[in-house]
Amino acid sequence: MSDTLAHPKAGQATKRLFIKTYGCQMNVYDSERMADVLRPLGYAPTETPDDADFVILNTCHIREKAAEKVYSELGKLRVLKEARGEAGQGGMTIAVAGCVAQAEGEEIMRRQPAVDLVVGPQAYHQLPELLTRTARARGERIGADFAPVDKFDALPAARGGDGVTAFLTVQEGCDKFCTFCVVPYTRGAEWSRPVAAVLNEARALADRGVRELTLLGQNVNAYDGEGADGNPSTLARLAYALADIPGIDRIRYTTSHPNDMSDDLIAAHAELDALMPYLHLPVQSGSDRLLRLMNRKHGRQKYFDLIERIRAARPDMALSGDFIVGFPGETDRDFEDTMDLVRRVRYASAFSFIYSPRPGTPAATMAAQVAPEVAKARLHTLQALLLEQQTAFNQSQAGRILPVLFEKKGRHGAQAIGRSPYLQSVHVDDADHLIGQIVPVEIVSGQQNSLAGRLIHSQAAHLQQRGAVSQAIGAPLRSEAP
Ligand code: SAH
Ligand code: SF4
Ligand code: F3S
Repeated sequence: MSDTLAHPKAGQATKRLFIKTYGCQMNVYDSERMADVLRPLGYAPTETPDDADFVILNTCHIREKAAEKVYSELGKLRVLKEARGEAGQGGMTIAVAGCVAQAEGEEIMRRQPAVDLVVGPQAYHQLPELLTRTARARGERIGADFAPVDKFDALPAARGGDGVTAFLTVQEGCDKFCTFCVVPYTRGAEWSRPVAAVLNEARALADRGVRELTLLGQNVNAYDGEGADGNPSTLARLAYALADIPGIDRIRYTTSHPNDMSDDLIAAHAELDALMPYLHLPVQSGSDRLLRLMNRKHGRQKYFDLIERIRAARPDMALSGDFIVGFPGETDRDFEDTMDLVRRVRYASAFSFIYSPRPGTPAATMAAQVAPEVAKARLHTLQALLLEQQTAFNQSQAGRILPVLFEKKGRHGAQAIGRSPYLQSVHVDDADHLIGQIVPVEIVSGQQNSLAGRLIHSQAAHLQQRGAVSQAIGAPLRSEAP
């Protein structure tokens, strides 16, 4: 990015930018990048679209509901835009970004004339230019086939918010082509950022007070960015390098594919303290027949074996997953296989969805689509089990001492909210002076969605408990092999 863009002209009027983000964490990261690239043009974020000069919807195409939300939001924005025009309050530029923009840019233009600009995920660095020629850019789309290299080279490095945790995209795109999924079409082929670029961005985040990084990628554990020696790195090696940065105390990564869970990454979980014992490892289904139809490229036994190896390396690993019910052809027996898999693995948390046919994906035209009532009933049954497991996991923390990274003030008095190593929210009274620090906390109780803890007051107790921290963290929570 040129210097002239990096410094807004003195006296330049502030323009208001409203970004609404749908979908996954990568969209959250991208929205921050878009705000960053527009800041030098005088755009400052605002909390509502009402007075915004520029509105961006950063959209998600993963399920039909997500995509349809965009059109209803655009309908509301159109009314707002017209009202502003009539009141002589100046124009409002409306852009649609993200995966819906990539997948159905022309349709957006056709269905909603109030949209000025459609911009796919690989072209956000071109926003300033596109904005100055919105009339011509209307209808223009940048293909997902482009390597995101230009985007990442051109966008300013992540600044992070004011927070102590930050997302950092290290990999983008997907080559897996699961038969239900749009991501390989909307985000393009797998591509990894070079190690040096990731380290630079992480150093800048650490300088701004970030202590915990979540590395993002559609298949983040397929990371193979170029290392200093010119050879591809691995996610494990990247994690070691990131952990050496002063200030970076915790590293997480998401989302991982079971087939890319390499030995060195599993070993890193045993050796590298900064790597948090929480892993999002979607399996989608417990039925071998369905896994084949989904083109997941592995069976249930391979998943069980993998979980066993991961838990051997890190006995307290908390696992999370994604599940789809009602995939075409799913029988009661297939669904029972999924329930059985969940019972065996025991998840600390999980996301589950009713299959949504997506245009252009192979599964959308498969015969034997499952009736909506059946899919709904299965979702209900699965979610009850997952919720039971999540609550049990949270309750099992009571009495332990966990290191908590305090992130923000809570709702009551001097309460603060932090994160446990297992990504649970921990609420602690009289702790708001500890925001930004990692402190041992005694867990008093665990509920469905969070933990309650208290500070350990006396120094003696503090020291004693330090031993307890490492002991507690090393202790197997679930010794039972799957
Ligand atoms: N890359 C990740 C997931 C990306 S999408 C992975 O490989 O697992 C996030 C989740 O959305 C998926 O894990 C899947 O559970 C769900 N999903 C994707 N396509 C879907 C569809 N067509 N219908 C319902 N759920 C879907
Ligand atoms: Fe979609 Fe499958 Fe790729 Fe995940 S691995 S993004 S579910 S195609
Ligand atoms: Fe949605 Fe695109 Fe993310 S489809 S889940 S925003 S990669």
